[in-house]
Amino acid sequence: MEPTKQNMNVPARSVDAPVASHYLVPMAIRPLVILPDPLLRQASRLVERFDGELKKLADDMLATMYDAPGIGLAGIQIAVPQRIVVIDLAKEGETPAPQVFINPEIVASGDEVNIHEEGCLSIPDYYAEVERPKTVTVRYQDLAGKPQVIEADELLATCLQHEIDHLNGVLFIDHISKLKRDMVVRKFKKLAREREAEKPTRMVG
Ligand code: NI
Repeated sequence: MEPTKQNMNVPARSVDAPVASHYLVPMAIRPLVILPDPLLRQASRLVERFDGELKKLADDMLATMYDAPGIGLAGIQIAVPQRIVVIDLAKEGETPAPQVFINPEIVASGDEVNIHEEGCLSIPDYYAEVERPKTVTVRYQDLAGKPQVIEADELLATCLQHEIDHLNGVLFIDHISKLKRDMVVRKFKKLAREREAEKPTRMVG
C-alpha cells in the first residue's frame, strides 16, 4: 500500500535502513507490477517452503517497499504469485518495524467500519477513500512457518485487508464506484500504451 497524501512523509525511508538481513547478499529492489498488468488479477498460491529463499524474498520485498516508498507490499506486486505480505507502519525517525505475514487469512472482522484514503504502489499517484472493517483478526505464519494470530485495528487493519486483497487478485479500486474505477483503469491503459510507443524501435540488420 502506498502512503496516502496525509501520511506521505511518514514511512519514507532509505533502502539502507537497518532492516535485519539474514544474508551477506544485499537486498534487491525489484521492479513493481503496475496496472493494467493482468498479473495483478491473479490469485497467489500458498507458501509451502519456509526456507532461505523465502527470507530473501521477504527482504527484497521490504527493500522494494522502502524504496518506493510504501507501507505495505504483496508478493504479486513484484511478480511473485505467493501469499506473502510485508508491512512497516513505523513513522519517520522511529525504529523500522518490518512485519512479514505468510499465508495471511482474515478469520474475523469487526462490525465497525473505517474510511481511510488508500493508495497502491501498483496504481501510482492515485488515491481514494475506501471503507473497510475497522478491526480484523488475521491468522498467518511467520518466516519460520509458525502459526500466528494478530488482532489489528485502524491503519494496520486497513493495510492488512488491502494487501490480503492483492493475494486474491483484488485491488483497492474494486472497493470504489465503477465510474471512478473505469476512469482509473482507462488512464493506466493509456499510460501503458504511451510507454510502449516510446520504446525505441530495434534496428534489424
Ligand atoms: Ni496495493
